[in-house]
Amino acid sequence: RVACGVIPEAWRFDCYPERGAVVTRELCEARSCCFIPASSRPAGRNGIPWCFYPRDFPSYSLVSMNDTSTGQKGTLVREVKTYYPADVLTLEVEIRHETDTRLRVRITDPSSPRFEVPISVPAATEKADSPAYVVELSRRPFGLIVKRRSTGVVLLNTTVAPLFYADQFLQMSTSLQSRFIYGLGEHRSAFLHDLQWNTLTMWARDVPPTEQTNLYGAHPFYLAMEDGGDAHGFFLLNSNAMDVVLQPAPALTWRTIGGILDFYVFLGPDPASVIGQYVEVIGNPSMPIYWALGYHLCRWGYNTSNSTWEVVKRLRNYGIPQDVQWNDIDYMDRFLDFTLDPTKFATLPDLVKDLHAHDQRYVMILDPGISSVQPEGAYWPYDEGLRRDVFIKDAEGKPLIGKVWPGLTAYPDFSDDVTHDWWFDNLQRFHEKVPFDGLWIDMNEPSNFLDGSTDGCPSNSLENPPYTPGILGGLLRAKTLCASAQQKQSIHYNMHSLYGLMEAKASARSRHTHTHTHTHKQDKNTERLLFFFVGMYSGHWLGDNRSQWKDLYTSIAGILTFNLLGIPLVGADICGFSEEPQEELCVRWTQLGAFYPFARNHNAIVMKPQDPTAFGPLARKAMKEALLLRYSLFPILYTLFHHAHVHGHTVARPLMFPKDVRTYGIDKQFLWGRSLLVTPVLDPGVDYVDGYFPEGLWYDYYTVTPLDKINLHLREGSISPTQVKRAQSADPLHLVSALSDDGSASGDLFWDDGESIDAYENDLYSYIVFDVAQVCVCVCVCVTKRNVTEALKLVSPEPRGLNGTITEVNVLIFHICSRQPFLNPRRRFPSKRPRIRAESAL
Ligand code: GLC
Repeated sequence: RVACGVIPEAWRFDCYPERGAVVTRELCEARSCCFIPASSRPAGRNGIPWCFYPRDFPSYSLVSMNDTSTGQKGTLVREVKTYYPADVLTLEVEIRHETDTRLRVRITDPSSPRFEVPISVPAATEKADSPAYVVELSRRPFGLIVKRRSTGVVLLNTTVAPLFYADQFLQMSTSLQSRFIYGLGEHRSAFLHDLQWNTLTMWARDVPPTEQTNLYGAHPFYLAMEDGGDAHGFFLLNSNAMDVVLQPAPALTWRTIGGILDFYVFLGPDPASVIGQYVEVIGNPSMPIYWALGYHLCRWGYNTSNSTWEVVKRLRNYGIPQDVQWNDIDYMDRFLDFTLDPTKFATLPDLVKDLHAHDQRYVMILDPGISSVQPEGAYWPYDEGLRRDVFIKDAEGKPLIGKVWPGLTAYPDFSDDVTHDWWFDNLQRFHEKVPFDGLWIDMNEPSNFLDGSTDGCPSNSLENPPYTPGILGGLLRAKTLCASAQQKQSIHYNMHSLYGLMEAKASARSRHTHTHTHTHKQDKNTERLLFFFVGMYSGHWLGDNRSQWKDLYTSIAGILTFNLLGIPLVGADICGFSEEPQEELCVRWTQLGAFYPFARNHNAIVMKPQDPTAFGPLARKAMKEALLLRYSLFPILYTLFHHAHVHGHTVARPLMFPKDVRTYGIDKQFLWGRSLLVTPVLDPGVDYVDGYFPEGLWYDYYTVTPLDKINLHLREGSISPTQVKRAQSADPLHLVSALSDDGSASGDLFWDDGESIDAYENDLYSYIVFDVAQVCVCVCVCVTKRNVTEALKLVSPEPRGLNGTITEVNVLIFHICSRQPFLNPRRRFPSKRPRIRAESAL
């Protein structure tokens, strides 16, 4: 066909995406597509398609369009069937101008309801007044073109390839405005996505992070930078297995095997607003309890409660700050949830008591799989679960049995409220034995050592759909449950990637109930599998990484990506999970980990210990320093979490300065908030590091990077509240102010009791804004302008390598002499927390 040759390679949309298929001319032309071998095919991934859609490939036509109270609604019709079964030939398209910066489009089947993701999203009843977008429609073939009103830039154009809407194959492509695309978790990749024929598959999967593989969670959201520095976002509200194909045109294809096409475009216009607008739809992250900011120590293979206790004591002896001690599955009796090994972990309740006496906390792991083979009457969680009918069923209606650590297990169906009550009752019963402070909910992809179940899976179109996205293992059931398994809200085929979200929701509910009954507070739910909604309920860690330098580096992209996916409480296993720990790597990792929003050192079974006390004095000291530095920055970190909770801001933030394209791909450095620049060492054997300083003055804390330091810079114009010692004691707060050339700076602090749920919502907090103009400090504080040279020494002993000069007045450190002026007298100020006081340790 003549028309085929005119399509440039970069603009070929794949007509034969089936993995592993050898596409011949015959097969391709049977799909009425163009077949032209490509000039090259990069190894290891789907490259330039040889079989692609011609421009006139049949698609839908828009046959009617009417105004509605929120926008427009119309009908789409397809005349020619596609090569996938069960095309929905008539569709309804609804365009909702929900807010000035949020457009929503829903394409549904008007004749029969299809699965929709069961989360609540904001409802709009009126059409936005002055939208920042313009929507244009192409009638034949149907397509949507969304432009930014102010610049005319095209943000979405779905006319570039045919629309598919078959029962198990829905596909929509769009051109991209630039090659700067971020998000689309969960994958291991650079922060900035590669558009060279890069397919990102989403389907929750328990597997050590590797490139080009679907990982633990599914987050179909991207942030895009536009030429000129504006940013927009796109969110496909769909939980089915899917591929997201990035190609150099630049263009992107969404290819999902179920649900509906329900998507949002967020207009920003700056990256932070885009993320805020996304988070408004999926739900704001919860405010972490204050101690969750501390250092968490864990390992698989402590073997006994006494050996766990020994480590805690060693850290105390060395004065290494530690807020939280964790246990992995070792504490359980034969790995059964809600049990305690009666001999090896007999002293666990005493350990927890001792932790509490030292103002430390205890977190334990829970996996969803419930052992199904204990004698009747011997294991309440299973017996009671059967009685209350909480388990996921196989296609025939019997509890589906898979296999995890305890052997054969049934899986609670967290899409059912009855299961939430049962889960809560189990937690409460166990809490009476071991008063844990938080939960680590793991293996909730859900993970299964078998494919499907002990009985395999039936053979049907759910198990073997006409098209299977590029899932590791090639089958939906690979190391999880059968796709045809039945849950209360739908089949596992639709619900799979929502499992962790729903478990997190069930666990978070118990947190509230505990608080209300004043028995205990648990806040720190950390779970590995997350769906896009889950920032509301818990944090996330990046899974089973390795003790390798590469994993140190890729953790930064992971952390930045999860921050823009609305889950700021995120970290990677510090020092690496699998493989033997290495001292130098572990030091550098602790330094970087000190700047993860969630800082946990975790280690796999049989590996040598890798807690800070396991190393020589120099390494130990460097790790201690790094952690003390983190602790001193808690007031900043806590304030950032407050902004995440209330405004959907990121905590760890990419160095993306919209006006400076050179910053768009940086993922070896990052910021906390807008002012604290972290430039870690990511290579062995070096005591220097190359970094990029965006526009402005940056003040450094240290001037070189020996083993005991991490590069940290303060942005001009910032005031950072810090504390000297760990929380809970009455330490003074300090303000570190880095003045701009014009002598100004500003900053803020959110402060509450650190543990009450909904402290912000219930008005139990203080929020303080600091401003400095010239040398005069314009906050309601009494300022001691002490020895400026001394202050300079603290912030920058030798101001080498700076973008600007430091003069005497550029850096001021001052103390708040009274806390009263900041506190609204109507508000309770908690007694237990560090207080703003007159004394200073400076
Ligand atoms: C999984 C978790 C890991 C944990 C292990 C044992 O592999 O990802 O963190 O240590 O299970 O529970």
